[in-house]
Amino acid sequence: MARFIVLEGGEGAGKSTQASLLAASLSAVLTREPGGTAVGEALRRLVLDNSSGHLVDRAETLLMLAARAQHVAEVIEPALARGQDVVCDRYSGSTFAYQGFGRGLPMGDLLCLDEWASGGRRPDVVILLDLAVADGRRRRPCGPRDRFEHEEDEFLERVRAGFNELAAADPVRWRVVDAATSIEDVAAAVLRAVGDVAP
Ligand code: TYD
Repeated sequence: MARFIVLEGGEGAGKSTQASLLAASLSAVLTREPGGTAVGEALRRLVLDNSSGHLVDRAETLLMLAARAQHVAEVIEPALARGQDVVCDRYSGSTFAYQGFGRGLPMGDLLCLDEWASGGRRPDVVILLDLAVADGRRRRPCGPRDRFEHEEDEFLERVRAGFNELAAADPVRWRVVDAATSIEDVAAAVLRAVGDVAP
């Protein structure tokens, strides 16, 4: 049976690099949120682009969830049904950490909305790549910053603490990996963390 594996973490934790290394090792479908479909990528541009101006927190949340609904239906469920593992760069954990702990929206509402948008599809395992906010900022490549990369450190600290709280609350599904070491060491730790997971 195929596994649905999610990588989560704050800015600059190296999720995208690790998600592609993991997907290559498992011959899994590699995808990301927000994104992963034509509609999802259009929503991603809208929600990350600074030129969208100020998005109210509820609109930001609903755009993330619209992308998720499309992504689950168009990419994730069909791949799992074909028997292929799926590696996804961010999923519901990001909504709880950023919109819940970061923006302060009520967690009960987010849980219901996420359940509805995702059709109840939950990851078999979530790997949290944990990194100090200052280290994440240092790793960020030069160039234009998206809406979330403009956030204050206090926001990113709430997101980091939120991710760790989510992991602590569900230790069977979540595994925390220290993202401060080398790409190779983190990749090995991620593979170990996924190793014994059954769907
Ligand atoms: P991404 O490129 O995945 O982040 P990074 O550059 O850190 O790897 O950008 C996606 C941004 O969207 C990221 O800042 C987190 C945010 N996000 C939410 O706020 N809520 C969500 O539900 C998701 C999926 C992402």
